[in-house]
Amino acid sequence: MKQSLWINGTNHETEIYKPLYSPFDGKKLAEVAAATDEDVKLAIEAAYRARKTMAEMPAYQRAEILERVTAQLKEEREECARLIAEESAKPLKAARAEVDRTIMTYTFAANEARGIHGETVPLDGAPGGEGRLAYTIREPLGVIAAITPFNFPMNLVAHKVGPAIAAGNTVVLKPASQTPLSSYKIAKYFQKAGLPAGVLNVVTGSGKTVGDALINDERVKKVTFTGSPAVGRYIRENAGLKRVTLELGSNSAVIVDQEVDIAKIIPRIVSGAFAYQGQVCISVQRIFVHESLFEAFSKAFVAEAEKLRVGNPLEEETDVSALISREDVKRAKGWVDEAVARGAELALGGVEEDAVLHPTVLLHAELTEKVSCEEIFAPVVHINRFSSFNEALEMVNQSQFGLQAGVYTNDVNRAFKAARTLEVGGVMINDIPTFRVDNMPYGGVKLSGTGREGIKYAIEEMTELKLVSFKLD
Ligand code: SIN
Repeated sequence: MKQSLWINGTNHETEIYKPLYSPFDGKKLAEVAAATDEDVKLAIEAAYRARKTMAEMPAYQRAEILERVTAQLKEEREECARLIAEESAKPLKAARAEVDRTIMTYTFAANEARGIHGETVPLDGAPGGEGRLAYTIREPLGVIAAITPFNFPMNLVAHKVGPAIAAGNTVVLKPASQTPLSSYKIAKYFQKAGLPAGVLNVVTGSGKTVGDALINDERVKKVTFTGSPAVGRYIRENAGLKRVTLELGSNSAVIVDQEVDIAKIIPRIVSGAFAYQGQVCISVQRIFVHESLFEAFSKAFVAEAEKLRVGNPLEEETDVSALISREDVKRAKGWVDEAVARGAELALGGVEEDAVLHPTVLLHAELTEKVSCEEIFAPVVHINRFSSFNEALEMVNQSQFGLQAGVYTNDVNRAFKAARTLEVGGVMINDIPTFRVDNMPYGGVKLSGTGREGIKYAIEEMTELKLVSFKLD
C-alpha cells in the first residue's frame, strides 16, 4: 500500500516514500509519504484558506460532522483496532479500548462544540466602568498545528483534532512517523462526514522538516504537541508568539499506604505499569509501599505480573507486545542492567526477546537511577519502601516530571495532604496515576509540560477570548 499526503481534501503525491514496518515482526505495512518543506507549506496554505469557512460554520454543523465521524468509528471499530495494533504493536484488547475512547473523545468534542460561550463582564466593578454592557465571545484561532505521538495513534489525535474542529479552527496534523496510517484513516472519515476541503490536512515525514515548517510559519497560530521534553522545549523556544500546548510525559508514581487492602489493588497497579508495554505517559513507573506491606506487596505484585501474556499484538490473549523500536528495547534494558549493577534487585523480567522486553520489576532502585528518574516508556517498574507518609510524598515529588500521581490510603487526612502536596497536574486518590477519562483536564507541571487537554480545556486554549463593550446612553 502506498500512502500519500492528505492536503486540501485530496491525496497529494510527493517525491519520497518511506517503508513502514510492523514493530512486532518487521512486516512491511506501507510506503508512506515523507513531506517536503513545500508540501507542508501547501498544507498550511490549504488550512489558511479554509479558516474563514470554518469560522463561519454554525456550531451545530461542526457538532454533526464530529458525530458522523464517531458513527464511522463505531461501524469500523474492529478494522481501526487492527490498524492500531499493526502499526503500533498495541495488543488488540488495548487497541479496541483505544477506539472506544476515540469515539468518546469525538463525542465530547461534538457536545462541547454546541456549548462554546463567553460571559457577561461587570465592568462597573471599577470606577469608570459604569453605563456599559460587556460580554466575551470565544473565536477560533485559525490554523492549528497538531503534532501527535505513536502511543495513542487515534485517541491522542482526537484530543487535538476534536477540540480544534469543535471550536471552528483548521488543522495541519503531523502524526508520529511510526503510526501514520490511523491519522490518514481519520482524515478520510472527516471527509466523508462533510468536513470542507482544507480544514484537516495530514502531513507525514521527518519530524524536523515538517515540524520546522509548521513552527516557522506565521499563519499557524498554535502548536499543540505530545512527545518528548527535548522536542517540546525546542517548539517552545522557536514558536515565537504562537500559543503552545505541550504534553511531555512523566515517571509517574503511586503510593500504597499502610493498612490498604493490597489484594484488591494489585491487579490494577499491574495494569497501570504494563498496559501497552508501559508506553503511556501516565504509566506506573515508581511504586512506594509502606514498610509494613512491602514484602507481601512485592511478592504478590510479581506473581500478578507473571500472569501477563507476552506475544503478537494481533492475538486475543496478548497483554504485552513489542516496544515501538528495537532501539527502545536496548535503551530500556540498558537502564535496567545499570540499576541492577548498582544494587537494585531484579524481581522479574529484564529479558529481551527480539522487539519485546518482558515485564520487569525491580526492588530498591535508587531514585537517581535512570529507571526511576527518567521516563522509561517501557514495561519496567520499581518498588521501594517508605516508613512515613511524608517521606512517600517527598519521594513522589523528587522528580523532574509532574503529570499525574496515585495514592492508595484509608486515611482521609493523608489523602487531602497528598492532594495539596503532590506537584502534579492530577492526583488520583485510591487509584493509579494511569487513570484518564477523556473529558477531564489532563496535563502536567515541571517537565511534563504546559497547558491542558480534555476537550473543554483544550477548546479554551484553541480559542481567542474577545471582549465586547457597549457604552449605553
Ligand atoms: C498519554 O500517554 O499521554 C495519554 C494517556 C491516555 O490518554 O490515557
